Amino acid sequence: MAGGELIAEAVAALLRGKPDALLGVATGSTPLPVYQALAAQVRAGSVDASRARICQLDEYVGLPAGHPESYRSVVLREVVEPLGLGADSFMGPDGTAEDVPAACAAYDSALREAGGVDLQLLGIGTDGHIGFNEPCSSLASRTRIKTLTRQTREDNARFFERPEEVPHHVITQGIGTILEARHLVLLATGAGKADAVARAVEGPLTALVPASALQLHPHATVVVDEAAAAQLALADYFRATYAAKPHWQGL
Ligand code: F6R
Repeated sequence: MAGGELIAEAVAALLRGKPDALLGVATGSTPLPVYQALAAQVRAGSVDASRARICQLDEYVGLPAGHPESYRSVVLREVVEPLGLGADSFMGPDGTAEDVPAACAAYDSALREAGGVDLQLLGIGTDGHIGFNEPCSSLASRTRIKTLTRQTREDNARFFERPEEVPHHVITQGIGTILEARHLVLLATGAGKADAVARAVEGPLTALVPASALQLHPHATVVVDEAAAAQLALADYFRATYAAKPHWQGL
């Protein structure tokens, strides 16, 4: 089964047991197959997502409200609408706020008041970031403003007409915030992610590779295709573990 379908099935299983689960979603290219597979399940009637709640992982600072590449717009377009949900099922940090620290604190509070994230879907940057926690982010960080690395701005330039339009600043859930989600699911595809995946999964735990913080989480799942797995020293062991995984365990 492809990674997107595998994760969509895990989300569907979560929603069958907890119809109003809070799903944390990432943007970028990697998770799109998850959202498409989940929407297909909803259309086919194999899961009811009508009470699901969606929350954003990160947001650009300073893009005008309604900009098509603001992550609010992307999540509404790629996740909320295809699942047949309304904007009231959705929450995210306010990237247009005058008072950015207050907006960040408000978002952390809102996540807590919503009961916490049940399943947080993550991508990984070529530099090892999760959310937009760039290298050397505090492993205890809360939602806050971050400056994107040159690498990340280059990686994301494909979404904008001109590279200089990529904002320098973002609001991102902190690593400490992300680690509070009950289940973390990181999806990585393609050879460009192989180095970051190997460093995140096989350590060492270091702020230099923010995704290595998943090693601290009691329930973190990393889903990779063969290309993204190419630099894992323990790939054979991971394959055997997955093949022998008890069914009751889920993802
Ligand atoms: C975006 C996010 C980022 C991306 C990462 C990979 O919300 O949190 O960490 O997941 O930059 O992006 P793609 O999937 O486009 O390679």
